[in-house]
Parts: sequence; structure tokens; C-alpha cells
Amino acid sequence: MWEDLGVALEKVDKDKLKKKPDPDKLGFGVHFTDHMFLMKWNKTDGWHDARICPYQDFQLNPACMVFHYGQAIFEGLKAYRGKDDQLFLFRPKDNFERMNNSALRMCMPRLPVDKVVSALKAMIYLEKEWVPRTEGATLYIRPTMIAVEPMLGVKPSSSYYFYIIMSPVGAYYAEGCNPTKIYISDQYVRAVKGGVGNVKTAGNYAASLFMSEIAKKAGCTQVLWLDACEHKYVEEVGTSNIFFRIDNQLITPPLEGSILGGLTRDSVLKLAASWGIDVAERRISIDEVLEANGSGRLQEVFGTGTAAVISPVGELFYQEQHYIINNGKTGELAARLYTELQAIQNGYREDPFNWVVRVG
Ligand code: COI
Repeated sequence: MWEDLGVALEKVDKDKLKKKPDPDKLGFGVHFTDHMFLMKWNKTDGWHDARICPYQDFQLNPACMVFHYGQAIFEGLKAYRGKDDQLFLFRPKDNFERMNNSALRMCMPRLPVDKVVSALKAMIYLEKEWVPRTEGATLYIRPTMIAVEPMLGVKPSSSYYFYIIMSPVGAYYAEGCNPTKIYISDQYVRAVKGGVGNVKTAGNYAASLFMSEIAKKAGCTQVLWLDACEHKYVEEVGTSNIFFRIDNQLITPPLEGSILGGLTRDSVLKLAASWGIDVAERRISIDEVLEANGSGRLQEVFGTGTAAVISPVGELFYQEQHYIINNGKTGELAARLYTELQAIQNGYREDPFNWVVRVG
């Protein structure tokens, strides 16, 4: 099988396999499986030397361009365990196609999507015991591409590593599925149109850390970013997209260049529309959100993301004022979407959109 895929396999010795973590105390992104996928790119050979090998450190030259100029992109997807121990991926091709869009913007090489998805499925099958059996827990998959040419001039690197690591995870936020408190920043911005806000590149996350620390000190879990020009229109949370339900309409900001096109965002829009819910991708100002909350028309707010899944928001903190949303409780649509999405992802519910891909 591995030869057919053009992928070499170097297995970890049985006696060196890692001890699996306690499934009830997984946290997020702290444990890693026994193997990883790695392939290399250069101008002469293109992608080459594809292999699944023991999870290991890299030895990299300190001049590698990723360390200096941040030429790095990544993705996040998950493997799910369903009934009879069947394993599933959710929209994997869409993730790697999004990664290719990121690669284009960051002057990095395109991935052969079908080959990478096949190698990923084979690696998940090899690591099947790492896919958690606990409800709500999954195997988080982190494909990453980095620039490895050792060179200090500012230009696209001439060589890259692409690798996939995997981590059994529980909930992304410490709150689990309980409502989070979100800090609305009108001081710092995440991205401008024409920049790289719609690209899954490492620097976007580094640039968000300073404001995230301010939010944490204020007792909030995350930052909700406003647009960079007027500090008025809601954009995204950085680790997730954002949705508002006002007067029974489900509203999310449009993809106009500064927001990441989340696959969970897209799935929620499609799922909600299929239930006959009025969905709108339109600009929404923070004033409109707070006015709707004040007049009792804001029914619920939630974030969506692969890591965050559906993450209800119970409180907004803006200009030193606290605004309680839906009495600080999870909204009914967020709960329904969470249940339905999980059931599709775990293969328990029919998948009318053909999102789910079986592994093995
Ligand atoms: C994801 O939801 O997969 C993300 O990449 C967000 C975050 C953990 C960085």
C-alpha cells in the first residue's frame, strides 16, 4: 500500500510506542502520536522523499527562512471515531485546497491534494488506536508547511518541508461546551483587506497574542476583532468565525479578504439553510449587535472552528462594559448545530452534503 502511495514507511518499534494519555484529560495539542508524515520540496525535484516516520524533532539551520520571515502555513482538521470503531475525516480535501490557496499567497509550492489525503488516511489507519473513544474527543490533525532554505535575504525560500502531526484532543477552550466570555478589541486589529487575514499563516496568530493576553487579564477567553479601517464591523475571533442570531436570522460577516474562510463556518451556513433557517453573510457592526442585545432581539452568539467546534458566547466585553448574551447560556441553535455536526462527523447521522470521508 505504501509503495502504491509513493510513501516510505518507517515504523516505530513496538516496544518504543508511547503510552496513550488519559482520555478524560487530553487538553488540546499537548500529546502527539507515534508517527508523522514528512515530505520535502526543492526546485529541482518538486515534492519528494515522502515518508511516514517516527514522530521526531527537526534539526534545522538557524538561518532557515521560516525563523526570520515567517513563511509558514498550516491547517487544522480532525479524525472522528464512530460506531463499530469506524474512523472518519471531515472535508479533508477542502482543507488541503485551502492550504493551496494559502501557499499561493505566501509564495509556497502547491500540494498534490489527492496524494496527501491518501497518505493522511493511511497514517490515521496506522495510528487508529490514537483516535479517542471518549465522547467529544477527537484526533486533531495539523498539516504544516515551512520554509527551510538557510538564507537571510527577503525572498521566497527555495526549499520547504511539509509535515503532518496528530494530537488526541478534548475541548479547545477550558470552558468546554459552556459559554465563553469574549473581549472586543477596538484598539488593535487583526487584518486588513489585501493583507493575509484570509490566509492560514503563522504570523496572523503571533500578531494576535498581545491582545489575547489583555483579554485574558480581563477574564475573557478570546478576542473578537473589528475591521481595521473603521473599528466598527465585526470580523472574526482568530481561532474561530463568529455567528449572531438576531430576530431568528443567522448572521455571519462576509468573506471580503480579511477573514479566514472556515470550513466549520461554511458547514454551519449550509446546515442551517437546509433546516429552513434564514442565513445571511453580511456586514454587521458592533453597534448593531449591542443594540439588538439591548432590545432583546439578540438570541445567541457562537463561534465556529475545527478546534472550537461550536463555541457559545455568554458575554461580550466592550469599552469597559459587560454585555450578557442569552442570560449567559448556550443558545438553542448552537446546541442543535453542535449535536448535528458531531453526529455527521462521527458517522451517526446521514451526511447529505458528502462531507465525511471514511478511513480504512
Ligand atoms: C483550528 O480550528 O483548527 C485552528 O487552526 C484554530 C487554532 C487552534 C489555531
